[in-house]
Amino acid sequence: MHKIESRTVVPAKGLRGEVIVPGDKSISHRAIMFASLAQGESRIRGLLRGEDCLSTMQAFKSLGIEVDEKSADELIIHGRGLDGLREPTDVVDCGNSGTTMRLMSGILAAQPFFSVLTGDQYLRKRPMGRVIGPLSEMGAKISGREDHSKAPLAIDGGGLHPTEYHSPIASAQVKSAVLLAGMQIDGTTTVYEPHLSRDHSERMLRYFGAELESFSGGARVTGRVVLKGQDIEIPGDISSAAFFLVAGLIVPGAELLLKNVGVNPTRCGVIDILQQMGGSIELTNQRELSGEPVADLLVKSSHLHGIEIGGSLIPRAIDEFPVVSVAAAFASGVTTICDAKELRVKETDRIAAMCETLGALGGVIEPREDGMVITGGHSLSGGRVNSFGDHRIAMSMAVAALAAEGDVEITDTACTETSFPGFWDLLTLISKDS
Ligand code: S3P
Repeated sequence: MHKIESRTVVPAKGLRGEVIVPGDKSISHRAIMFASLAQGESRIRGLLRGEDCLSTMQAFKSLGIEVDEKSADELIIHGRGLDGLREPTDVVDCGNSGTTMRLMSGILAAQPFFSVLTGDQYLRKRPMGRVIGPLSEMGAKISGREDHSKAPLAIDGGGLHPTEYHSPIASAQVKSAVLLAGMQIDGTTTVYEPHLSRDHSERMLRYFGAELESFSGGARVTGRVVLKGQDIEIPGDISSAAFFLVAGLIVPGAELLLKNVGVNPTRCGVIDILQQMGGSIELTNQRELSGEPVADLLVKSSHLHGIEIGGSLIPRAIDEFPVVSVAAAFASGVTTICDAKELRVKETDRIAAMCETLGALGGVIEPREDGMVITGGHSLSGGRVNSFGDHRIAMSMAVAALAAEGDVEITDTACTETSFPGFWDLLTLISKDS
């Protein structure tokens, strides 16, 4: 449980400098998980030490995995292979992390022991039927609250068979849970999805030596895979960089260089969206780190205009819509976001949360069942807003405050530790440099 904290952000007079964002959250979770299931040592650099990934690390320690913290930036995980995990002696606490709970469900469903997954007040409200459904089709025995749809989840592992699963939603957590169960059993497991969701699991499992096929519309794994320990370097998180991209675009006179950011095409929809809105974002120094594309991003203050966003772009930017709605509030014209019903089941209902918070500062934003309509060009005033305990709402409102006309107090801000330790210091630093 976070302590309640509040922060006041004052309007910025320009933003300058180099920004190094913390390691990618999705990739960090997977690095800990796959290194634990691999045979031998893996050396991981650049891991995000946010609360979500620490929940994953703690979970694997409770399953018998040893972790050596070499330095603040480097750790070694002593993998024990697919058969090396042991039954935890207590419930496994996933904290606020949906990725931990859903991917662990897939891993633990195939392990020959009993385990219980729980989480904080927000995670216990989020839908888990989406992973329990396909895992149960594979023979998993998982029960949970509210007719097996909510955590805590009790998993009586083992006895799985492969499946062909057609997911109704484009969710990397669902896709990964099924692939992680499938890779531990004999036979071929296939997942189809309506649009391509982030493919970090597929890339990293291949990097660890698994035979895994990605095709348009899904992915397929044949078990039992053998994973071999690897050196992994984790790029900066595009979802964290997104706050500074939008800040760099909407604050007059701003220019920021964001270094070493992951630009996996299944993740960087926010760059496409902001460029389509007229934003000046330049990718330089493009390269690859441990199987993931990376670049430096140069962003300059720009006149933005509204656009329509939907379809396959949605899963490619799913975590960035709170801050995209802030960009839209400062753009001329109307921005429409549709096909994004998933926003209602994130850390909070992000459609309701952004309508309330941006609206409280004078933004013109209307909810739709599956998105929002934002009419830009109305200046935002100062005021007081709540984060609803959601890290991305808190940071989005901090970005809005930089370009608002008065000071904005944001309450319940300790949640930013979930994904972005050091966010507030970085914000202060680039505001001072200008
Ligand atoms: C994630 C997948 C996405 C995303 C979440 C992280 C992952 O969730 O919103 O922050 O690491 O696989 P869904 O799978 O629910 O879309």
